[in-house]
Order: sequence, then C-alpha cells, then structure tokens
Amino acid sequence: PTNEAEVEVFSVPSYACQRRTTLENRNTVLTDALSLLAENAELSAEEGRGVAFRRAAAVLKVLPEPVTDMTQLRGLPCLGEHSLRVIKDILENGASSEVESTKQSERFKALKVLTGIFGVGAKTADRWIREGIHDLQQLKDSRPTLNRAQRAGLEHYDDINQPVSKAEADAIGQVVEEAVAAVLPGAQVTLIGGFRRGKLSGHDVDFLITHPEEGREVGLMPKIVSWLESQGFLLYQKTTRNSYLESEDGPARPCSNMDRFERCFSVFKLSEDEKRRAGQTQSRHASAEDGGRKLWRAVRVDLVVSPISQFAFALLGWTGSKLFERELRRWAGHEKTMSLSSHALYDGTQRTYLRATSEEEIFAHLGLDYIPPSERNA
Ligand code: GTP
Ligand code: MN
Ligand code: MN
Repeated sequence: PTNEAEVEVFSVPSYACQRRTTLENRNTVLTDALSLLAENAELSAEEGRGVAFRRAAAVLKVLPEPVTDMTQLRGLPCLGEHSLRVIKDILENGASSEVESTKQSERFKALKVLTGIFGVGAKTADRWIREGIHDLQQLKDSRPTLNRAQRAGLEHYDDINQPVSKAEADAIGQVVEEAVAAVLPGAQVTLIGGFRRGKLSGHDVDFLITHPEEGREVGLMPKIVSWLESQGFLLYQKTTRNSYLESEDGPARPCSNMDRFERCFSVFKLSEDEKRRAGQTQSRHASAEDGGRKLWRAVRVDLVVSPISQFAFALLGWTGSKLFERELRRWAGHEKTMSLSSHALYDGTQRTYLRATSEEEIFAHLGLDYIPPSERNA
C-alpha cells in the first residue's frame, strides 16, 4: 500500500509470533544498531530496555524494503521514541551517535570480552569491571577464583568465540547420533536452536533427544554424557535436572514426569577426524606440517532430553529465536489467558492442560497461524 506521497507504508502485526521472519533482512544497518543497544541494555541489567530494542529490531526485520524515510514507519508497532530516534539518526547522518559511543565505551567493550568467557554472565563481568578488570590479561593477572565452567571458558576462549558452521554442527550431530544409538537404540536426535531455523552459523549447537516410548528417556542424559566422555569428546560438561520449577513462571507445569527433563551444557572437542568422517574435508594423512597445528576445535553444545509427551513443547521452546519464544509466551498470557512453557500449555480459562504432538497443534491451540522454523528468525 502507498500513501499520497508515494512512500511505501508497511503494515505489521504487533507480536513477533504473528509474523514470518526469514533470515533475509533488508534493514541490517538499522537492526544491527538496535541489536547492539539491546545487547548493551541486557549486559547492564536493563532487561526491559533490551526487550524494547529487540522488538523494534524485529519489526524492521520483516519490512520488504530498506527503510529510507521516517514516514515509512508510521503506524508500525513496537517502535518507541528511543528506537525511532536511533533510526532517524542513522537515516539522516549515516550513523547513530548513541550506537557509536556505546561501541567505543570502555565499559561495553569490557562487558563483551568478559561475558565472552563461557560461564561468565553480566553480573560477574560487572563485578570484575568494578575491580578494574577490563580484559583477559588483567583477569589472568588478578587470579580470581573461577568455577569449572569459567576455567573451561577461559581455556577455550578463542574457539568458543569463533562461530560454528553448519558443517561443524552436522559433524557434531553425527557424533551425538552415534552416542544416542549406543546407549538407547530407538532414541531420536533433533537439531534445534538457530540451525533448525536455517542459520548458517551459530554460537553453539543445540540438540533435543527423546524416545518414542514414554519413560524410556528416563536417565538417558548421564548415559549419553558417559559415552561421549569415554570417547574423549567432552572438554567440559554440566548436566542439570530440569530447572523449570525455578526458571519458568506460570502454571504451565504438568506435575508428573517433571524430573525427566534434563539438559547438559557442554564444550565439545571436534577434531578433523569427525569432520572428515562427516564427509566434509578431503581425506588426508597427518604430515610434518601438522606439527604444532591444532587438529581440533572446541564447540559449545547444548543437549536437552524430553519425554515424548512433552516433545512438541520442547521442540517449539528450544527452536527460538529467543524473541520469538518470548513473544509466543506473551501472546499466550496476554491474548489467550494461557501459559506456555517448553513442557506444556495450560489454558487458564478451561483450567486444563492442552495436549499436542506437533508444533502445528500448539500454534492452533494458541489461535496463531503456523510459522515454520525458518520463519521464526525474529
Ligand atoms: P545461536 O546459538 O546464537 O546461533 O542462537 P540460538 O537461537 O540457537 O540460541 P541459543 O542456543 O541460546 O538458544 C536456543 C533456544 O533455546 C532459544 O530459543 C532459547 O530461548 C532456548 N533456551 C536457551 N536456554 C534455555 C533455558 O534455559 N530454558 C529454556 N526453556 N529454553 C532455553
Ligand atoms: Mn544455539
Ligand atoms: Mn544453546
């Protein structure tokens, strides 16, 4: 639709879960700027501001053309005063002064470097910064007490901060398949997270594991981890029981089979061997040139085990994007009086749990058009 001035005017529904967001983005200059401000807010314990910037960026991601004029943004949802100011600055001056000064700020740079250590969150990084620690050298010199995750994070810092390719994700997928087949034949492995949404690289690789027979998945995670450990694939792992009682609000918790839901944060050792076996690199023999060259890399891998009865909810909940998930839960609560988690969907009006064996059914329960994973890149 066009208005009198022949300026393209776009119409966009307000919840990200009502929209189809592919990886094609005609407004990366604007969305990168808003995402950086979102990241800065999140790293500064300003979650509300972070979400506001994420929502604004997500709206721009679905526009079919690059924005060239502020009038094109009239009537669009989620664009607050602050985000509009940033966009205007970029359209008029080629850059946003706030984004540029944030990028340059010592605090932001330090927060990025320190939270780049696996196991270090914004709170820890903030404490270190207040103690005068701004980079890895200063951190190492000050010999702080680090937990096991942080020690592994520091040791494999460069590898973990290097993006994971789809080919590497697939090679790890083959190893996980092998582990699962060895400890519980018939169990199924599904690639989730960003790679399921079609991304070509990621910060980690995420897998969801289940078994078609309810209950067979009980105790599975420790067996998978033991197998991987015995084969030398794990540089670090921490398995936690489902943290869903503590971490998620609302009544979306079916009380049976709660402790069957487990996750494992790990750092994987991916060697050239696995990549070769996955058919991705030319077959070659170790040579003198390999002397001193590292023939493996560390990769962050997340594993989740779910009972088949909760599989659709886990699949939907772990495919992301994070904003898409947040918007699904907001839609459920605010528009439907329902409570959605990665375990269940509770209908507050009927006071009952709504069953689903596929993502399509969950969208239908929520009164939403089905959005496939490749269009959940909000
Ligand atoms: P990259 O890894 O950066 O490529 O992006 P990603 O979308 O895969 O992000 P990430 O691996 O961080 O998370 C994948 C999905 O899992 C996202 O939708 C998150 O919302 C979800 N997720 C991450 N941590 C948790 C958690 O502790 N509980 C639940 N229920 N979901 C989580
Ligand atoms: Mn991921
Ligand atoms: Mn992850």
